[in-house]
Amino acid sequence: MDSGAAVLGLESSCDETAAAVLRADGTILAEVVLSQLKEHSPYGGVVPEIAARAHLDHLPRLVAQVMAEAGLDYPQLAGVAATAGPGLIGGLIVGSTLGKGIALAHGLPFVAVNHLEAHALTATLPGIGPGEMDAPVRFPYLLLLLSGGHCQCVAVEGVGRYRRLGTTLDDAVGEAFDKSAKLLGLPWPGGPALERLARQGDATRIPLPRPLLGRAGCDFSWSGLKTAVAHAVSRSAGTEQDRADIAAAFQASVAVVLADRARHALDMLPAATALVVAGGVAANQGVRAALAGAAAQRGLPLVAPPVRLCTDNAVMVAWAGIERLRLGLADAVGHAPRPRWPLEGMAAKGIAA
Ligand code: KG4
Ligand code: ZN
Repeated sequence: MDSGAAVLGLESSCDETAAAVLRADGTILAEVVLSQLKEHSPYGGVVPEIAARAHLDHLPRLVAQVMAEAGLDYPQLAGVAATAGPGLIGGLIVGSTLGKGIALAHGLPFVAVNHLEAHALTATLPGIGPGEMDAPVRFPYLLLLLSGGHCQCVAVEGVGRYRRLGTTLDDAVGEAFDKSAKLLGLPWPGGPALERLARQGDATRIPLPRPLLGRAGCDFSWSGLKTAVAHAVSRSAGTEQDRADIAAAFQASVAVVLADRARHALDMLPAATALVVAGGVAANQGVRAALAGAAAQRGLPLVAPPVRLCTDNAVMVAWAGIERLRLGLADAVGHAPRPRWPLEGMAAKGIAA
């Protein structure tokens, strides 16, 4: 693909409605992310039907907006990429159907993007690499995907070539943040609020467990930690300082465990060139610092994309589309969205059924 070619990316798998136009050289021509926080916060979590309706209401307008900002007409695009799974099926149908419609109407190739692959490949976007002026990160690298729905260690060996080294046995780490935040009386989504509260706290006064610390492999388990938060909250007097101390202890436990799991995972992938972190929890400064320490202990850089590219966005979807189109991996417009779609289901020579 010519480096000046541009791809339209669409993201609608959860509660962010996003569109972007990205050039194959990595230049972002236009991007927009609309959060549905307001729609879902009265319910304390994402309501699938409300999410699908909101995507339907907003995505077409956002697409028109990014195309106008990029100064392009549809026939000038090199392709359209839309998230086709995993995620909430209503939103996936809205985004991928719109993407297919645009592709069909203008005779463009369509790419059905796996949302996890999009997170995984963000680190290869030019300019994201280990140092700002450095070349992009090289394969293989270790990806820690830390979001509200996923908690995995993945060996990224190439486009379409992923090996899951470890995963959570129960909750995703973002879910643990959200549930613990709720127990501490914080608003949803709890991660950012818990991080702020933890800054006022003493992490050593009310110690919490560190699940699977030192255990072989790189699986995770967070539900026991969340239960420990519930006990600590009910045993405490409930002062502001108690809540801050519990938040600080929770965050410290998560950071220590993540660093330990990352070291184990890096030992399982000796050829790794970097530790890459993605997903909303990667926005957490305590988590980032702990992971940077773990990577440094193995003599590797930590690659953490800017927060807006760690959380759900359409730039990463367009980029995954560009990487696939470069390999000639367009999809048929009959491709059905998949609410469950593990990364191992991706094959280098196309998308496995
Ligand atoms: O990747 P993401 O935007 O959406 C998906 O789940 O796909 O991740 C959202 C998750 C939520 O659980 C949220 O609480 C968490 O990321 N999160 C954080 C922070 N910012 C977002 N967790 C801890 N610290 C943060 N600063
Ligand atoms: Zn995501």
